Amino acid sequence: MRYVCSVCGYVYDEAREKTAFSDLPDSWKCPVCKAAKAAFVPEAPKEAPEPAAKPAAAPGMNTVSEEEHFTKLSVGQLAALCSNLARGCEKQYRGEEASLFTRLAEHFTQSTPPDPETSMEALSALMTEDIEKGYPALRSAADALDDRGTKRICVWGEKVTRMLLSLLSQYESEGEAFLRDTPVWVCSVCGFVYVGGEPPEICPVCKVPSWKFDQIEGREPA
Ligand SMILES: [Fe+2]
Repeated sequence: MRYVCSVCGYVYDEAREKTAFSDLPDSWKCPVCKAAKAAFVPEAPKEAPEPAAKPAAAPGMNTVSEEEHFTKLSVGQLAALCSNLARGCEKQYRGEEASLFTRLAEHFTQSTPPDPETSMEALSALMTEDIEKGYPALRSAADALDDRGTKRICVWGEKVTRMLLSLLSQYESEGEAFLRDTPVWVCSVCGFVYVGGEPPEICPVCKVPSWKFDQIEGREPA
């Protein structure tokens, strides 16, 4: 029996390892990306590929009214949007635009009211909802439009969300010891988070080299 890491795709082969997956301790982690044991799923049996179905018609791109195309964003969403746009401008070496979007993101961040409902459970529930409902819905819309960019966002985003959920559950079970004296690295391309001394040589999700990882500071020294 083989088990696959839902974050990076590493395969644990019981025959090769000579240890049943179920016999591994709960503290066992993926040797590549350090996702928790719970992030592994049994490998699906290989099936003959089905002939490609013609994608369904795009979901009403030409039938909805102009008003329905617009969504009112919260200030928090605007902050995230502007910070993403700043990052996009940086990648295209458009420094002036990047700094303007960064200023806008800071402005919206400061205007975001604190959320009294914030909790680990709420965060975990939001990420689970993204995995179970958000990404499948986005993927089917991207398939219908044959939008390659959005399809890639779905693949990377789902893996990164699974990793964040795995890190959250490890933090919940180990507490502060999980992060003590350990740097935290974030892939600047896909957002994959790695907790450990050095970043992985290659990002397990988007495959960029280690120099694309940023070390995240900001924790109070122990
Ligand atoms: Fe990455």
